[in-house]
Amino acid sequence: MEIKKLGVIGSGQMGNGIAQVAAASGIEVIMSDIKEEFTAKGVANIKKNLERSVSKGKLEQSAMDTTLAKIKTTVNLSDMADADFVVEAAVEREDLKFKIFQDLDSICPAHAILSTNTSSIPIGRIAAKTKRPDKVIGMHFMNPVPVMKLVEIIRGLPTSDETFKITWDLSEKLGKTPAEANDFPGFIANRILLPMINEAVFCLYQSVGKPKDIDTVMKLGMNHPMGPLELADLIGLDTCLAIMETLYDGFKDSKYRPCPLLRKYVEAGWLGRKTGKGFYEYNK
Ligand code: CAA
Repeated sequence: MEIKKLGVIGSGQMGNGIAQVAAASGIEVIMSDIKEEFTAKGVANIKKNLERSVSKGKLEQSAMDTTLAKIKTTVNLSDMADADFVVEAAVEREDLKFKIFQDLDSICPAHAILSTNTSSIPIGRIAAKTKRPDKVIGMHFMNPVPVMKLVEIIRGLPTSDETFKITWDLSEKLGKTPAEANDFPGFIANRILLPMINEAVFCLYQSVGKPKDIDTVMKLGMNHPMGPLELADLIGLDTCLAIMETLYDGFKDSKYRPCPLLRKYVEAGWLGRKTGKGFYEYNK
């Protein structure tokens, strides 16, 4: 199946990154969100990324213009009617994703594959909301999308081999390296990453170390590019908490309990970079 048009649901940090890499690989993109203000912000971020590459001499101005011309935006989900493949990257809330998939199922053509960038909600549960569960799959990009090479592809129980193959090929077309995971809470990436981040928050909670020291240990001691608390701020503390809750609910194992301090930060609206404050402070 040739993917001529890719729909991206959500124009936030993941959605606009996915739109950027798809457009850069020559695919027509339609990126949606609930408000024009959000889609405009998403496009502005893509422009900023591309401009940075042009100014570094890594991208021709003409290639930047071609990429931008391939991205259209909308606030109407009905504009996904001619999408061959959709990547949903909306907020990590189950009820919201269920509604989006039900709507996409009735809007998109019968051949369209509906994928989700969920970081931990079961694919089978989302697929069951549609009449095409064989065409529902997880396509989990990493943040920042233009830089990170991985796409974790998650097969739900009903996902067909054909859907899997098309998604794998699309990931490679986008310049990414896919890895296959089965549909268990957190899949592979977040099953391993988030307990590490949560443990770093416990170290802070129990005064084992200050944020900078915790991050320095992991950066210089383990060669991680970012410390776990810096990374939590990049991912978003609300997303980190949602993933820990999915792991905890899914396995009913106390080793996945979210650190109470993480919950306190989220309740205070300290969500990391996107709100200007998390474990560190940022200039907005
Ligand atoms: N968007 C686009 N490009 C970006 C970017 C962004 N937000 N941030 C950095 N870059 C680019 C820079 O422009 C630069 O590009 P060039 O090499 O072409 O010059 C390159 O990335 C390196 O950037 P910097 O030199 O500024 O900084 P760095 O070397 O410290 O790298 C980083 C920054 C790539 C973010 C690096 O710190 C890193 O890899 N961190 C770990 C990120 C990570 O673990 N991501 C996974 C999060 S988990 C997730 O996403 C899944 C989930 O469900 C929660």
